[in-house]
Amino acid sequence: MIDLKLLESCLKTRYIGRRIYHFDSLPSTNDEAKSLARGGEEEGAVVIAERQTHGRGRYDHLWFSSPHGLHLSIILRPQVNITRVTRLVMVAGVAAARAISSYGLDARIKWSNDLLIHERKVGGILTEVDTDGGMEFCIVGIGINLNVRHDEFPDEIKDIATSIMEELGEEVSREEFACRLLNEFEDVYDSFKAEACDEIMSEWRRYCSTIGRLVRIRTVGETIEGEAVGVDREGALILELPNGRLMKVVSGECTHLWR
Ligand code: BTN
Repeated sequence: MIDLKLLESCLKTRYIGRRIYHFDSLPSTNDEAKSLARGGEEEGAVVIAERQTHGRGRYDHLWFSSPHGLHLSIILRPQVNITRVTRLVMVAGVAAARAISSYGLDARIKWSNDLLIHERKVGGILTEVDTDGGMEFCIVGIGINLNVRHDEFPDEIKDIATSIMEELGEEVSREEFACRLLNEFEDVYDSFKAEACDEIMSEWRRYCSTIGRLVRIRTVGETIEGEAVGVDREGALILELPNGRLMKVVSGECTHLWR
């Protein structure tokens, strides 16, 4: 169980986590954050649940939400054009990668929202936007396999998942990790609001393990394979197809292929 007082005492943020809603169990912290945002909750409010019964990933995947994991969502109200909101997944990716790296671990990002250590998934990001003509709010949901034992993972993901504890060889404090994550998030999000997107993207590319790899991308209705040669300033993946043509992929599910 997260000790909120301890978490709040190590937060150095000005507005991220100013208000923290803490639940023992929720279907999904993203859904709870959405309903709070619809009720007028301010930017920076954070929802944390010890466990989720319907943790959601991208593409309708379920997110395995062990009570030993960290599941949180942040309410944001960025005053930017809706087209720029796709970059928030990069903001969250850099913040999470910095937090993981601060434990001496080799955090990497698989385009566009997967957090990896040694090519195994340790976390994921789900950003959701509510629009009403303009942008109303955005929810950034982050799930981290924190102190999850390998034998806890369901069979389907056992070979592709890992946890901070498994990689580090010891448990980490949930409060300490959440605190590092939220501190980093505010720092990167402030840069995003100050239009420092090129700096964020440069840092994101340094964490990215997709660039230079052969990949398979599943988009709606098609599957494409090619070499990932770059990620542009909007976060789109640039693929070089087998016929040498370059293709820009804005969203899709990415698998790294071994050569
Ligand atoms: C993915 O890898 O597809 C994204 C996973 C995101 C999971 C987090 S856990 C906290 C928040 N609440 C949810 O229901 N999903 C996100």
